[in-house]
Amino acid sequence: MGKAKMGIVINHSENIFLLQTRSNSYAFGIDDQGLVRHLYWGKRINEVEDFELPVLTEVSTNDPVYEITREEFPVYGSLRYKEHCLKVTFADGVREVVYEYVGYRIENGESCEELILELKDRHYALKMELHYKVYEAYDLMERFVVLYNASDETMEVEQLQSGQFHIPYENLNFSNVHGHWGAEQQRFVQKVSYGKIVIENRRGISSHNHNPYFILDRDATETSGDVYFGALRQSGNFSGVVEQTPYGGTLVQMGLNAHDFCLELKAGERFASPAILCGYSDCGFETMSHRLHRFANDFILSEGFRPVLYNSWEATEFGVTCEEQKKLAKKAKEFGAELFVVDDGWFGERNGIDNGLGDWYVNEKKFPNGIDELIREVKSLGMMFGIWVEPEMVNPPTKLFAEHPDWIYHFDTRTSDTSRGQYVLDLTKAEVKSFLYEMLDNLLSGHEIDYIKWDANRPISQTNLHRDLWYRHIEAVYDIVKALKKKHPHVLFEACASGGGRIDYGILGIFDDFWTSDNTDAYDRLTIQDSYSYIYPIKAMRAWVTDCPNFLSARMIPMKFRFHSAMMGSLGIGCNVLKFTEEDTATAKEMIREYKEIRPIVQEGIFYRLENPSANDYAVYEYQKEDQGLIFAFLAQGKIGHRSTTVRFRGLEADAVYTVLLENGELKKSGAYLMQHGLELRLNGDYASTLIRFAKCETGRA
Ligand code: DGJ
Repeated sequence: MGKAKMGIVINHSENIFLLQTRSNSYAFGIDDQGLVRHLYWGKRINEVEDFELPVLTEVSTNDPVYEITREEFPVYGSLRYKEHCLKVTFADGVREVVYEYVGYRIENGESCEELILELKDRHYALKMELHYKVYEAYDLMERFVVLYNASDETMEVEQLQSGQFHIPYENLNFSNVHGHWGAEQQRFVQKVSYGKIVIENRRGISSHNHNPYFILDRDATETSGDVYFGALRQSGNFSGVVEQTPYGGTLVQMGLNAHDFCLELKAGERFASPAILCGYSDCGFETMSHRLHRFANDFILSEGFRPVLYNSWEATEFGVTCEEQKKLAKKAKEFGAELFVVDDGWFGERNGIDNGLGDWYVNEKKFPNGIDELIREVKSLGMMFGIWVEPEMVNPPTKLFAEHPDWIYHFDTRTSDTSRGQYVLDLTKAEVKSFLYEMLDNLLSGHEIDYIKWDANRPISQTNLHRDLWYRHIEAVYDIVKALKKKHPHVLFEACASGGGRIDYGILGIFDDFWTSDNTDAYDRLTIQDSYSYIYPIKAMRAWVTDCPNFLSARMIPMKFRFHSAMMGSLGIGCNVLKFTEEDTATAKEMIREYKEIRPIVQEGIFYRLENPSANDYAVYEYQKEDQGLIFAFLAQGKIGHRSTTVRFRGLEADAVYTVLLENGELKKSGAYLMQHGLELRLNGDYASTLIRFAKCETGRA
């Protein structure tokens, strides 16, 4: 028996690979037929020698071995009828892959060890590599697949999932989010039974309707139970399939959507699938979120705290004028905003949705002295300056469209559809991609811009003749932003697609922030933010305080609740601040001052969704960083009497003493008391909220 090891452990005589993180194990092996067979995913098992590959036998002639065995990467072909990860048509029309095992190699990456299994087709010069990155300290793995066409003919890849996972249980719960514009991130949970659950996107934009991740649990709570999860690093069309098999297990795949997809892998070409960031928690959803948040903060997101922004969209919509924007900026500065963003409407003939996109020159009527007049004002106030763009789109009446009608996605014999009055530019065309890069590079080089809000307000249609565009389009967006960041490293990018249409682990890191939703109603936002927090890091979650009645919900919500709700993420203000009363200004000033104090805890702390044991709908969240923390508590409507809730803190040191700062006083309690007994909290009235802060006392109770 060997000593417990971390990272990649191999039993060479049995061809068994064990991937060890701090508390989890993932195992698979290669059998005599060369099949890569899954063995285990779950809580840590130390000894690789414990694992063995049972000999496969058919249950009956109707249940072939491929159906029973748990493959890591099932390909289309042979007697396989379940979902497959790869389907290729070779130049001679053969449509099945038959692979054999070639060998493996191990590479060391940043904070991870990477195992690469090398497979190849037995007849055709197609090589496949299964990549597994093991992040020991984060209890996470990343899986993806690389295809390489070593022949001199084109191969057509019609299906490519980044990997298959096996969960050794039935009747699991599957959770994801559903939604649409203004109602993103609506968490749902459904029982997995026989048949399949499919989540997907076919629109070219990842996440209004579903989100590219899976969570499968066994009746887990925040703090208990098995949770298996994976998030796809991709913003174009994706699909995820969960299938409970008739043989006592559940499989899940995630990757590129096979709908209207075909990748032509030309001679000598390589293609890497998007990665799936995945893990297992034996102690509930909270641990899953903590691991993903920490990984995102340490590896994916750019450093530094996100500035408090002011965005003028809800205040002015398309009616932008230099004078009014200057006034808004001045007022925003007065109460503490650090970044002023001028949204849609500053360019071309952009007076509504039907014109302007593509004509990226400053509108002279709105800015007679150019945009620099506004930028100078913003800079002189000591704020950063940000600007809105929607580069992937063009409106029909523009100069750009008149000059390049063939730059939009289209079929020569069809009329392309407009949506929100606009077409989508074909970013798979090299000249379109260069045009967009140059346009944005000129904008950033010519003006002192610190922040770009990149929007995309319609799905793709009438595509083009190449069925890989659903993937290539977003790759082009990534490439453009990566190149811009290389040249303009100080500029932050916000990913927006009609609100929260591009919230995914593909765009995260290339962009710095997500615009979470156009639904800025502070109460609706609590649900959106709660669901978001399962998978995505708080720092990237942009949340604005906006005017009441809210433009979508018509709700009237007190300023304090609106601020507390938006302070749960990266705070922004979207009000028409020129209409602020003195009281509004004073509240905004005070809230923003407090936000700046707690910002490190909110943006980079550990986040907890706290249990609400009350019959009243309290929503309670905790954030903690080092020895300090805070709790936001909300009550939209006290429905049943005036019941209080008990706030049981999480993650404290049981023996330490904490000072707890309530709105009406200060307490000193032990960590054990706060976590076990908890504090009784009563909020009264509709849309009531509070912020509780706490800190560990170095001096104990003294
Ligand atoms: C959709 C975005 O989500 C909004 O915030 C705003 O930028 C508009 N587009 C502008 O057209």
